[in-house]
Amino acid sequence: MTSPMKFRSEVMFMIMAIFVLLANMSTCRAKLSSKYYKRSCPNGANAIRKSITQAISRERRMAASLVRLHFHDCFVQGCDASVLLDEDATPTSERNAKQNKDSLRGFEVVDAAKAEVEKICPGVVSCADILALAARDSSVVVGGPSWKVKLGRRDSTTANITLAESDLPLFSSTLDELIANFDKKGLNQRDLVALSGSHTIGKAQCLTFRGRIYSNDSSIIDASFARALQRTCPNNNDVGSTNLASLDLVTPNTFDNFYFHDLIQKKGLLTSDQVLFNGGSTDRIVVKYTQNPSKFNSDFGKAMIKMGDIEPLLGKNGIIRRVCSSLN
Ligand code: HEM
Repeated sequence: MTSPMKFRSEVMFMIMAIFVLLANMSTCRAKLSSKYYKRSCPNGANAIRKSITQAISRERRMAASLVRLHFHDCFVQGCDASVLLDEDATPTSERNAKQNKDSLRGFEVVDAAKAEVEKICPGVVSCADILALAARDSSVVVGGPSWKVKLGRRDSTTANITLAESDLPLFSSTLDELIANFDKKGLNQRDLVALSGSHTIGKAQCLTFRGRIYSNDSSIIDASFARALQRTCPNNNDVGSTNLASLDLVTPNTFDNFYFHDLIQKKGLLTSDQVLFNGGSTDRIVVKYTQNPSKFNSDFGKAMIKMGDIEPLLGKNGIIRRVCSSLN
């Protein structure tokens, strides 16, 4: 015979177990969906697109900067807008990571888009979702592919500079390092090559390619390409480190597949670009994208969706920030 005391504690235990199960089920059920704001903010995506398009018409490079911002968000504790928190919000601001400092751009453009959407549906649309939409809208404005953006991410209350420095790839990375880096985020070699294809737009600072253009090794860099860049980027760490060069020398302002043609001619700007075509396992993907631009476009869209799926905060996790750079 079970004693009344034991019976009561067994019932209590069962009730608690059911609660835990239900709580877990509600977190599991929450997932990203392209219709997430259909009822709560039906005009939000339009307002964001308008704001982003205006910013890009003021400065075309902004499209590149916004695509990169989404990448640097998703690779550090998932797509949770942690990258946007500034030093006033947290001492561990990712903006100060070596891969981001004096390099990431577009924060004020995201703030402006957020301000527009706050006017029509306050406290509803997350900054992490704005980054995902801004990346897609940017691609479209400069002639790149479109894709259905999944929504419903929530914003973090923390940032992690240590994780940013360990998980964001470096311009000096080898192919094996890049593959490992992307694999850690659930992205395969095709995703790595397709996503690196966003270097078809935008610019890099001399300090990121100086080592490569003075290497004097014609097996890894085209000699005339290296010479031309040496005019922009002197072989002196104290001079011209912030001078800019286009990541795709042929069509720097248009999203197309010329970046891959550059690589085949050993005219990749960064070491991390050229290693994608240097006798390794990704060579065949690069060649494929030179031959078939629409395959590149569709793989790029798919990979951006996959990247946008990295560890989102869902359901009751995280917050909706009112201002993207600070905590509520
Ligand atoms: C594969 C590893 C990658 C490395 C090592 C890398 C590194 C870099 C570096 C060093 C710059 C120049 C920054 C500066 O000079 O201030 C840059 C620019 C850029 N990156 Fe990457 N990147 C990688 C992958 C990606 C991915 C996956 C995306 C997007 C999906 C991306 C998008 C961009 C864009 C668009 C720019 C130009 C930004 C601008 O003009 O403001 N990159 N990247």
